Amino acid sequence: MFKTAASRCGASLSSNKTIRRVSRAFSAVSEEEGQAWIDSCHKHTIWSWSAQKSVDPIVMAKADGIYFWDHTGKRYTDMNSQLMCSNVGHQHPKVIQAIKDQADELCYAGPSMATRVRAEFGPALAKHTPGDLNKFFFTLGGSEANENAIKAARMVTGRQKIIVRYKAYHGATHGSMMLTSDPRRWPAEKSGGMAGVIRVFDPYMYRSLLHHDGMTEEEFSAKCVAQLEETIIYEGPNNIAAMFLETVTGTNGLIPPPRGYLKGVREVLSKYAILMVCDEVMAGVGRCGEWFACQAYDVVPDMLTTAKGVTSAYMPLGVLAMRPEIATAFDSQVFSGGLTYSGHPMCLAAGLATIKVVEEENLVENSRNMGVILREHHKKMKEKHPCVGDIRSIGLFGAMELVKNRTTKEPLAPYNSSHPAIAEMNKFLKEKGIYAFVAWNIFHTNPPLMINKDQLDEAFEVIDDALLICDAAYEE
Ligand SMILES: Cc1ncc(COP(=O)(O)O)c(C=O)c1O
Repeated sequence: MFKTAASRCGASLSSNKTIRRVSRAFSAVSEEEGQAWIDSCHKHTIWSWSAQKSVDPIVMAKADGIYFWDHTGKRYTDMNSQLMCSNVGHQHPKVIQAIKDQADELCYAGPSMATRVRAEFGPALAKHTPGDLNKFFFTLGGSEANENAIKAARMVTGRQKIIVRYKAYHGATHGSMMLTSDPRRWPAEKSGGMAGVIRVFDPYMYRSLLHHDGMTEEEFSAKCVAQLEETIIYEGPNNIAAMFLETVTGTNGLIPPPRGYLKGVREVLSKYAILMVCDEVMAGVGRCGEWFACQAYDVVPDMLTTAKGVTSAYMPLGVLAMRPEIATAFDSQVFSGGLTYSGHPMCLAAGLATIKVVEEENLVENSRNMGVILREHHKKMKEKHPCVGDIRSIGLFGAMELVKNRTTKEPLAPYNSSHPAIAEMNKFLKEKGIYAFVAWNIFHTNPPLMINKDQLDEAFEVIDDALLICDAAYEE
């Protein structure tokens, strides 16, 4: 009843035993059982960010590499790495084995314990973090990493205010939610919000009012940075602890910074002793064709947060990385943050194994190389489909922005909303076995980093057909 298990593409299965194990787990799910899972999940569990009755979940019965299968045996190509997080692909045998081995060795140690895996993970990660970002606080995810970065920035500088940008998601816990500027923040603001958050506009060339035709990226960046500096002056530099920014904006439109922007921001922040905190929860660990996205822009922030891809999401782990100047402030001053699961051995084991897999299988390089192919596909889609207004990508982090009209640039779906054509396109993609993330008018294309050219070509054949549905909604 199920198709045979696909072999991994960028990384080969290490043994027949693994193939058998995957197949057995797969065939164990009957159609009735899958439906019962859906019913039970609906009855007893709450889905994220959704009106519950609107959720129509896919049963994820089995996964392998860039694919997963539902309970009917239907195969999906995972063109979003679930939540932009399954970087090494699904069910990598080495990461699975490391988690099993760690369970045998030591499942849990309190956060004040020294463990083998904690001792090994720190240097393994420090080998790849930008510049001298080499000391880490461990959390359970990106929100908590940012939450602790807020605290650390305020503790170190003694200042309160924090600058963020409008097109930003930094997490769902209180502080990180308040740094988030997208509509997910609005309901949470009813609690009164968090004092001291300053919002500035993004270097969003496609739509920025600071941009005009004929302007170079560098000129545009200089304007954005000048506007940032003006804001800093009006807010009082001595009141501002930090600026948080997604190095490459993720869910809010996939916006790689224009040339010169990040360096300009770095200079202005340093001028006023404001800390630069790069959020690479989504953009880190190879996603952008570098270990960390800020390496592509030759910038070292004062702190960096990451999560998701750091364990390929096999186990929950967030990391707050600090430069020595920040970290040493806590040599005598108390670092006022802690979590029962900080430094959890199982999570660090998954992280350590993920780092090794990314190294051994050259996944950073593959992300860079396949990123070139991804961009070619985006270009073809833009040439062919009037509804594709803009294309943006770096490495395997990319998106197509859908519009009603290329001259007016009116988004196909308004901000925080959808459009019947997009809903129909999503239905078509699902039917054809492409799992894609289309948020508002942004079609994200973020597959696992071990994807190969043939697989990308195959996925884009379907995406090509799907975009015809949105072309029909184009207004001349
Ligand atoms: C840029 C960014 N920061 C923070 C977060 C929050 O991470 P988590 O969901 O692991 O708490 C996310 C999650 O999508 C993210 O994309």
